[in-house]
Amino acid sequence: MPESQAVGVILAGGKGTRMKSDLPKGLHKVAGVPMVELIGRAMKAAGIQRVVIVVGHRGELIQEALGDKYEYAWQDKQLGTGHAASMTRPLLVDHAGPLVIAPGDAPLLSKEVFEAILEEHKGVACTLAIATLEDPTGYGRVIRDDKGVPCRIVEEKDASPEQKKIKEVCTSLYCFDAQALFKGIKNLKNANAQGEYYLTDMVNILHGQGGKLQTFSTQDPGVLLGVNDRWQLSEAEKGMRMALLKKHAMDGVTLIDPDTTYIGLDVEIGVDTVIEPCTSILGATKIGSSCKIGPNTRIENSSIGESCTVLMSHLVRSTLGNEVKCGPFANLRPGTVLKDRVKIGNFVEVKNSSVGQETSISHLSYIGDAELGAETNIGAGTITCNYDGFVKSKTTIGDGVFVGSNSTLVAPITLEDGSFVAAGSTVTHSVPADGAAFGRARQETKEGWAEKWREKKRSQQ
Ligand code: UD1
Ligand code: CA
Repeated sequence: MPESQAVGVILAGGKGTRMKSDLPKGLHKVAGVPMVELIGRAMKAAGIQRVVIVVGHRGELIQEALGDKYEYAWQDKQLGTGHAASMTRPLLVDHAGPLVIAPGDAPLLSKEVFEAILEEHKGVACTLAIATLEDPTGYGRVIRDDKGVPCRIVEEKDASPEQKKIKEVCTSLYCFDAQALFKGIKNLKNANAQGEYYLTDMVNILHGQGGKLQTFSTQDPGVLLGVNDRWQLSEAEKGMRMALLKKHAMDGVTLIDPDTTYIGLDVEIGVDTVIEPCTSILGATKIGSSCKIGPNTRIENSSIGESCTVLMSHLVRSTLGNEVKCGPFANLRPGTVLKDRVKIGNFVEVKNSSVGQETSISHLSYIGDAELGAETNIGAGTITCNYDGFVKSKTTIGDGVFVGSNSTLVAPITLEDGSFVAAGSTVTHSVPADGAAFGRARQETKEGWAEKWREKKRSQQ
């Protein structure tokens, strides 16, 4: 790596007290992805290859969730943002280029923002990202010297009533010259209202040393803002959600009601697909073109082909081919594979099963741990009895099989190609190809029986 290449640092060691949570703040998700990871991904997308995350409070959870795509610096005691940044010294002290430092709680920081701050940061000691806010409460205020250069940041808790009126705030996104930072950071003091080592004090230190400082801002200051409590988390979620929805719309997806549509960050959707209201498409889900999804549908980590219809259904870790019809009220659980033109109707649950082309399971069924061939018809109310209380067993159904309504298939069992199961059967033995199973009591018909029954009722009135 050339020495001048930028390195990223994300500060995520704090407890996030205001979140009132057991989780470290950075692991709270926006658009289905932990906030720290969103920032890490945006840094990497901007070409920052090396990203170090400072972890502390329950840091092992962050490390576990994000894995080895990132480097970690441990901050054992949370002594402030400046202390956190100094924990990267052993890893980065030799770095001679720009160091982009971001807080782990600003999930809307984008690739574009990182690109822009790096572009701006040329030949200065520190580029400080600021925002001008109508209500700056809670943020550090930017104090400028008589030449208009930022010379100090005053935290809300340390600010005088006059300083509190300043609307220009520090966003905690910075680009430092790494050498200037590590040289100055040793001089941070904790003589302030919170008894912490503030990274914001680096502005004052660098200014005092005659270092060059400049500010940086974005057209929409909202993208720089942090999440400190759950309400701000909801706001960030909404901001990110609308941006994602707009991107999908611009890419050719019709969204009937963006207000009730939730699409995760990693979702891909093909052109001319229509998403109906009250629909969530989450995780690593891929949907092909010309599908109709929703209303009232939730799809997680699934893959859907082209021209499929998914109506009022719940899909998790399922794979659908092309022209599949699903719902209303289908429940596709993990491991479901539906080949082209399969039809899954109302109140059908499928789990860990594969269903061959053009097979129909149209009403009120449970299909679990099964393999079904093509062009098979599963009648209403068919149940695969895959569990005997001890083990799960497999049901194998071939091509062109006809299973009559209300049949109970006790696994392990095989219905070979072209076989037939009479309606209402309990099938406990495999059925050979082109054979039939009648697993039900033979009907007895008694002439005049009903009339006698009615007579008896009348005589008792
Ligand atoms: C910080 C800034 C404030 C700025 C605001 C913008 C300081 C002193 N203040 O305040 O000027 O307006 O961000 O959002 O920097 N962290 C650690 N270790 C610690 C403390 C914090 O890693 O010991 C991490 C946190 O996990 C968090 C980030 O640093 O991701 C910022 O900390 P936070 O407590 O949210 O700072 P603010 O009070 O928001
Ligand atoms: Ca914050």
